[in-house]
Amino acid sequence: MTVPPTIVAPSILAADFSRLAEEVRAVEDAADWLHVDVMDNHFVPNLTIGLPVVQSLRAVTAMPFDVHLMIEDPRRWAPGYADAGAYNVTFHAEASDDPVALAKDLRSAGAKAGLAIDRDTPIEPYLDLLPSFDTLLIMTIKAGFGGQRFIPQLLDKVRTARRHVSTGHLELRIEVDGGIAADTIEQAAAAGADAFVAGTAVYGAADPAEAVRRLRSLAERAAPGA
Ligand code: DX5
Ligand code: ZN
Repeated sequence: MTVPPTIVAPSILAADFSRLAEEVRAVEDAADWLHVDVMDNHFVPNLTIGLPVVQSLRAVTAMPFDVHLMIEDPRRWAPGYADAGAYNVTFHAEASDDPVALAKDLRSAGAKAGLAIDRDTPIEPYLDLLPSFDTLLIMTIKAGFGGQRFIPQLLDKVRTARRHVSTGHLELRIEVDGGIAADTIEQAAAAGADAFVAGTAVYGAADPAEAVRRLRSLAERAAPGA
């Protein structure tokens, strides 16, 4: 089984919002993507940041933005993030009645398209849709808040997805999000994830760039076939 090179994506949800540009620059050289959690207080109870912040950040860094929309009505809002220069825009399966149509909109707006699967959602109904997507984000917590405890049972979905990607020869990133840290990333990598979001484990560390490098080396060593 071959897995693409490891991506580490720090989540700015755990950063100091009063110094966002600095916090982004702190991980710029070490990380691959910048993960941006957009929450609307409807799809999830929490409320975070939206398009104006993404637009402002776009001007201060060249890092690819991995936008994770935890919002209702993604068809209305998601293309705006692609227009703002996001590299990848991920929306939730639970929030969309036509995920394939929205994936097409995102790709034609110049972004990669991502599908997110929350804690209580099985993956099987979505496997046939994956050729329309570039990224599959499998939550390893219930979406809504940073700093929660990783749920190892959810890695079964990662294993299912990895088997499906390998047998179908799909070009798809398998990303995990929630509770990813030095003590959990290896099991996620061994299950077949190749992109790793980490909020608390990066921005809660004294040296965020060093935390990213450590996570990357743990994931690389644990990847199938490494
Ligand atoms: C939560 C967000 C996550 C969050 C992860 O719903 O999707 O990206 O920032 O935070 P940690 O890494 O602290 O679990
Ligand atoms: Zn996220």
